Amino acid sequence: MNISQEIELTKQKIKKLRGTLRIIGDKSISHRALILSSICVGRSEIKNLLESEDVMNTVHILKDLGIKIIRKDKKWIVYGNGTNGFIQPKKVLDCGNSGTTARLMLGAVSTNPIYCTFIGDKSLSNRPMRRVTDYLEKIGCKVNLTNKEYLPLTIEGSQFNLPHIHKISKPSAQIKSAIILAALNTHGKTTIIEPKKTRNHTELLLEYLSVNYKNLKITAGGQKLIFNGPYEIKSKNIYVPGDPSSAAFIVVGALITPNSKIKLLDVSLNKTRVAYLSILKKMGGKIKIEKTKIRSGEQLGNITVATSTLKAITIRSNLSPYLIDEYPILSIAASQAKGITYMKGLDELRHKESDRIKSIVGMLKSFGMRAEIKENDLKIYGSPSKEVSCKKTVKVYSDHRIALSASILGIISNNPVRLDDDGKSMATSYPNFKNDLKKILID
Ligand code: S3P
Repeated sequence: MNISQEIELTKQKIKKLRGTLRIIGDKSISHRALILSSICVGRSEIKNLLESEDVMNTVHILKDLGIKIIRKDKKWIVYGNGTNGFIQPKKVLDCGNSGTTARLMLGAVSTNPIYCTFIGDKSLSNRPMRRVTDYLEKIGCKVNLTNKEYLPLTIEGSQFNLPHIHKISKPSAQIKSAIILAALNTHGKTTIIEPKKTRNHTELLLEYLSVNYKNLKITAGGQKLIFNGPYEIKSKNIYVPGDPSSAAFIVVGALITPNSKIKLLDVSLNKTRVAYLSILKKMGGKIKIEKTKIRSGEQLGNITVATSTLKAITIRSNLSPYLIDEYPILSIAASQAKGITYMKGLDELRHKESDRIKSIVGMLKSFGMRAEIKENDLKIYGSPSKEVSCKKTVKVYSDHRIALSASILGIISNNPVRLDDDGKSMATSYPNFKNDLKKILID
């Protein structure tokens, strides 16, 4: 049993958030920067890599597969072995809590003639893997899953890979990226059809690395990617922009905390990631976005946020791929907005680090707030005029985004917030959250 402890930062009621903050590197792009550099040919330097537990799992696995990776002067240097360059690992590949590591690395090893065992922590071992391996098996590898769906799994990569037309049935950047990584080492034409475009960091990095592939728009917001492999990709240095999903916690913190004004620097403004800023603006959020530069294919920018009076909103299901990691923190904004917020079509939230539909409701209820689930929709009753207080220990189900969201609500709580994991899960994506918050908290 976990012993609840107070989160240090929320011991006293905090008055305001003020100042400027550079947000840590993006988690999705950090995984991709490491994996793509490993399958390039030659040396790459990665700057601003997110040094979180999830990303370090990818580093360790790549090293286990024979890739030389070193950290020097805050930069990560990767010596790529090409798309067919992984060697037989001597141990099991441990993905920890990281779904992105598991799904993307499965794609990356599937076309190399090696035999790997993938394992993960308790949460990851309950998350579906067939959504990726079904496609990879069509290409040629052999997979054995626990209970036909889960980790631990074994994968035997094939060198005789078959080009295919893959139509992806779920909107998932992880599935798409796994198939892309396999396509890069497959002889012939691989087509990937995505009926609804998902986050596109893999595609942007491939363009930055001058990989010759086609990206065609199809009807209703979808895309068709055509690869003609195998590829020999020349290494290039990569800069990882600030993580918009980590920025979202600070953005909502500033919106709901009286007398606040903050500026976040060099955040990725990738359109598949920042839909939450439009939602918060529609809710009445005072948010200014200023584009700055493009680095390694990604648009960067600064975000300025001031305390705002928020009103409820209905978020339609078609937006879910672009808000997928932000629902927990949007639920905190909704709890402080006037009226009832509806979030629709959240099916994919059931398969995240926890069943996030349930954990969001549990978190809000720990603060005495009202929220209801109807199938895969959420209904959140906003109560902006009610004093916020933490009534009981928040169960975070080892889910970093739930722990971070509850801590943000803790800023305006009149008593300390207690998390059942003492905030340990935050290390998954935002290891220095408490320090970052300290930098901008004025009591
Ligand atoms: C990610 C994609 C999303 C997201 C996850 C990271 C990625 O998952 O929830 O945190 O880096 O590709 P899905 O693509 O499965 O929705």
